[in-house]
Amino acid sequence: MFHHILLTLLSFSPTVLGAQPSAPEPIPAPLRNLTWGQLNFLHTTDTHGWLAGHLREASYSADWGDYVSFAARMREKAEADGTDLLLVDTGDRIEGNGLYDSSDPKGLYTADIFKQQHIDVLSSGNHELYKQNSSEDEYLITVPNFKGNYLASNIDIYDPQTGDLVPLAPRYKKFTTKVQGIRIVAFGFLFNFNGNENNTVVQPVEETIQEEWFQEAIREKGVDLFLVVGHVAAQSKEYSAIFKAIREVQWDTPIQFFGGHYHIRDYVKYDSKAYGLASGRFMETIGFMSISGLSTDKKEGSKERKSAGPSFNRKYIDNNLFSFYHHTGLNESTFPTSEGTETSKMITKARHKLNLDRVYGCVPADLWMSRAKYTDKNSIYKWLQEKVIPETLFDESRSSKSAAMVITNTGAIRFDMFKGPFTQDSAYIVSPFTSGFRYTKDVPYDKATKILEVLNKQAQIVADDIPIKGHSAPFLSSPEQQGKKETLPSFANHKFPSDMMGQIPLSDTEPEDPKLIPGYTTTDDAGSDGDDTIHSPIDFYHVPNCIDAFIPLRETKSAVMEDPEEPPRPETVDLVYVDFIEPWINVAAKFVGLDFDVHKDTEVYMPGATLGTLMIEWVEKNWKCD
Ligand SMILES: *[C@@H]1O[C@H](CO)[C@@H](O)[C@H](O)[C@H]1NC(C)=O
Ligand SMILES: *[C@@H]1O[C@H](CO)[C@@H](O)[C@H](O)[C@H]1NC(C)=O
Ligand SMILES: *[C@@H]1O[C@H](CO)[C@@H](O)[C@H](O)[C@H]1NC(C)=O
Ligand SMILES: *[C@@H]1O[C@H](CO)[C@@H](O)[C@H](O)[C@H]1NC(C)=O
Repeated sequence: MFHHILLTLLSFSPTVLGAQPSAPEPIPAPLRNLTWGQLNFLHTTDTHGWLAGHLREASYSADWGDYVSFAARMREKAEADGTDLLLVDTGDRIEGNGLYDSSDPKGLYTADIFKQQHIDVLSSGNHELYKQNSSEDEYLITVPNFKGNYLASNIDIYDPQTGDLVPLAPRYKKFTTKVQGIRIVAFGFLFNFNGNENNTVVQPVEETIQEEWFQEAIREKGVDLFLVVGHVAAQSKEYSAIFKAIREVQWDTPIQFFGGHYHIRDYVKYDSKAYGLASGRFMETIGFMSISGLSTDKKEGSKERKSAGPSFNRKYIDNNLFSFYHHTGLNESTFPTSEGTETSKMITKARHKLNLDRVYGCVPADLWMSRAKYTDKNSIYKWLQEKVIPETLFDESRSSKSAAMVITNTGAIRFDMFKGPFTQDSAYIVSPFTSGFRYTKDVPYDKATKILEVLNKQAQIVADDIPIKGHSAPFLSSPEQQGKKETLPSFANHKFPSDMMGQIPLSDTEPEDPKLIPGYTTTDDAGSDGDDTIHSPIDFYHVPNCIDAFIPLRETKSAVMEDPEEPPRPETVDLVYVDFIEPWINVAAKFVGLDFDVHKDTEVYMPGATLGTLMIEWVEKNWKCD
């Protein structure tokens, strides 16, 4: 692929100022300009610890320090023009990158790095609440770091010192912007999540908006803008409910929503004065939003401004220095701020301490999650199914007694694997989850196969039947794929197979323009000019919710390996699964008429093994670097 070749060449060129020392230089590409307004925003979401940026993809190679410089320069520019700039982050800052996951305790370095950015309004994601530790870190570290700016409209926490149930952070805030005195009431929400540890309580949004404090807040007089930030999909029942609640009492006041969670770029029109922006994932995207035509405390009653009505504009900025220089009109010597450069150094030091550049092996060719059909040899799932799982998953007490069928959800893989060194960092990026494997024995082979079929074809029915976790049952496939399903209107120009098992490319295959770098080509409620960088499109394929791998009886293993297409199938197998999906397996088993109790009839398979440890073991054995 063109940009990978270039990327390899560039890695030998001298380091640019800013970014991480090993980051590739951005590749010049045609850009669309930003439309600045009276009130401007920069937005990050679902950064998942990627504060070092993408060290293998030039389009997203700026780090958090570069973003600190960018925000400062954008603010200078806005204020010089007599306008305002605000920063927003909508959660899932943790889990998914070695910079967060590999320290002990987790997040030892990331909280201090993150805090270097001045953020005006931020909220919690679901990932912050999965574990008691991480939610307590929010309460004791991140909330104080962003004093007054971190909002938790619908989250409470049991205070670890007093045991009292208290708001994680203030419910909302009122403030006026620095330059123009625009009067804003802001909220910070989380979608109706119930997979959290029991030390936090997430109130369903529909209940929160009935609360007296909320009903009072939306009745405030003299508000120029309602600002709703949250770890909530831009197109969701939660945001529709909040929109309706505000509109019932403020028929005319502009509302700006910022959201995330599905890892997609998305922009939604609620009405002519209410819009919502979602800004991607993993530090690939800096969302830009501008609003003009707002009233302010200084220009109360200014008829000219108001009569024009507010106008809204959005852009999705690729997170790299080429874009940053362009939008600020600066260059490598005039762009960096000392705070930004310091932040980049903190990241370099932390990566070094965590040994994230340790190399386990070298990947011979790119392996894709959804850029290849899952049955292709360059699919990461095919590799797991045919190589990694059969050759490394081995249980002392079971492997010589029974063959096994292993079910893994495709959402357990979080990122592509690029040709080149497979590092400690890569391992955390590709498979950050800590789930182990469990099994139940003597399952008829045909029933095991049916379970897989149910998980892939009737997953929603299964989800509705999961008693404990309700609608927050873990995603089986990736959040990106879930998001695309739920936001069909925004992807109207993409072909979506109605059958989840379909293998149809999601974008039209157009002849590739050799000058353009493959990347985001977003279509949303405002059209298809949202991406700052003009890219050629990438084809995506749907992947099933779950894949299986077959592990033959140990004695027959070598024979089988010679003919992986046709291994002999036994009558019964150990049904092995990633423990994260246990609630799904439980329900699917009952669907196919198999009665076992996941609490009594299952045990750990290969204690200590996770998909991540299996991958590392396989890479070390098979993919030596020259
Ligand atoms: C973008 O803005 C720059 C600087 O103001 C200007 O020179 C350039 O022509 C603009 N590009 C487009 C495509 O409008
Ligand atoms: C929680 O944090 C404590 C103190 O840093 C640590 O000892 C413990 O292992 C952590 N537990 C988890 C589940 O991460
Ligand atoms: C949370 O669950 C644990 C056991 O799983 C229990 O001991 C504890 O009391 C629960 N805490 C709350 C606040 O309900
Ligand atoms: C950066 O911009 C400044 C001011 O416009 C100019 O003096 C300088 O030569 C530029 N530096 C580079 C490396 O282009």
